[in-house]
Amino acid sequence: MINSGTKKLYHIVTYGCQMNSHESEKIAGMLTNLGYQKTDSPEEADVLAVNTCCIRESAETKIVSNIGALRKLKAEKKDMAIIVCGCMTQQKPLSQRMFQRFSHVNIIIGTQNLHRIPEFLEETLETGRRTLAIEDDALKIYEDIPTERYTKPSAYVNIMYGCDNYCAYCIVPYVRGGERSRTPEKILAEIDRLTDDGFSEITLLGQNVNSYGKGLPESLSFAELLREIEKRGGIKRLRFMTSHPKDISDDLIAVFKDRKSLCNHIHLPVQSGSSRILKLMNRKYDRDHYLKVVEKLRAASPDIAITTDLIVGFPGETESDFEETLSLVKEVGFDSCFTFKYSKRSGTKAETMDGHLSDTVKTERIMRLIAVANQEMMVKHKSMVGKTYEVLVEGAHTEKNQVFGRTDDFKLVNFLGPSELKGQYVSVKIRKGMKNSVFGELV
Ligand code: 5AD
Ligand code: SF4
Repeated sequence: MINSGTKKLYHIVTYGCQMNSHESEKIAGMLTNLGYQKTDSPEEADVLAVNTCCIRESAETKIVSNIGALRKLKAEKKDMAIIVCGCMTQQKPLSQRMFQRFSHVNIIIGTQNLHRIPEFLEETLETGRRTLAIEDDALKIYEDIPTERYTKPSAYVNIMYGCDNYCAYCIVPYVRGGERSRTPEKILAEIDRLTDDGFSEITLLGQNVNSYGKGLPESLSFAELLREIEKRGGIKRLRFMTSHPKDISDDLIAVFKDRKSLCNHIHLPVQSGSSRILKLMNRKYDRDHYLKVVEKLRAASPDIAITTDLIVGFPGETESDFEETLSLVKEVGFDSCFTFKYSKRSGTKAETMDGHLSDTVKTERIMRLIAVANQEMMVKHKSMVGKTYEVLVEGAHTEKNQVFGRTDDFKLVNFLGPSELKGQYVSVKIRKGMKNSVFGELV
């Protein structure tokens, strides 16, 4: 249905990680300031923004084809403005190709131009001029972009941007630029505003939060920042994403020992269980170091949930390297594993390495890895049966009269209940443990 009223509507399609979800909240904030309202239907939108991801080739191919398919929508609604932004656009040759091929797209901007959306939009609406704006030096921080948050009482807060690690497989440092931290004052002021507004779950975001503070005039470590935030009232759940195992300090582990609002969960991507592959990946730690970090975390907080990311089929990965990944997953007993087939990314170190593996080998390995990871998750989930947990309800499957939410330690819980529970903290007794989630009942 095409919107024929006077209300101006926007729709945002978001791909990728939490960082992108939060950036979409900023796009929403800017569009709201311009008088637009949110619609869930792309057909109705006067402004349609596509916030892209390029971490793996499969995602990128799908997104490019979806953007191409918007041509039809635009033909039916000629005054619709289409904006493409996010990590994918920061690859200049790709953006230039899209700009030429996709005449239905009005604005293509890189990650550093997000704050200029209102200006470019106004221009395209007034003059019909199209914009392609990709900056080469992604090193600035733009503060005070208005933000529209749809996940109350949960909120994302950026503490840093970019990444200096150059893991051999990863495109992020090329599209997001080098590491830069927000000042503690800006972060704490944002958190205070959020808690004043009734937000109680805060997730701190950064590509590598453990190296927070680098380059700031008055340096504060990530552990010190967490302690500062823990001192504030109003926060019930404090989380952070993502940590690099090479930068986990003893001081950070100590914060888990005396944690107050900090949740009993850490996402600690290991990527591989083989020290040889970790070296090729330029991860700067080995299997033993990772296992020691896990041991220290468990000594500090015995029930801490540890989740991870794993890549199979990195160039040169042998069957025995892969078996080391399987054995590491069993040894650690992760609470959840996000598994990926290695994907070749343009400009990365791994792109030109020897020993790229076929998709058949990668598929076979990922299936075996998922089977082992599922077994571990099943054990964790079954151990929850009979116990009662506090769950923050995140959403509803209305057709089943079911809602879902997370425990403090990030377990996904489904239970029967009305959608009005969304945003509330409730007590749920677990009845059944499955591989990806648990099922319980409201008590
Ligand atoms: N291929 C496959 N997985 C990748 N990741 C990052 N780059 C690639 C790639 N080229 C995974 C890593 C990272 C997660 C966000 O995505 O596991 O931790
Ligand atoms: Fe990519 Fe490595 Fe940086 Fe994570 S730490 S964003 S995997 S380069």
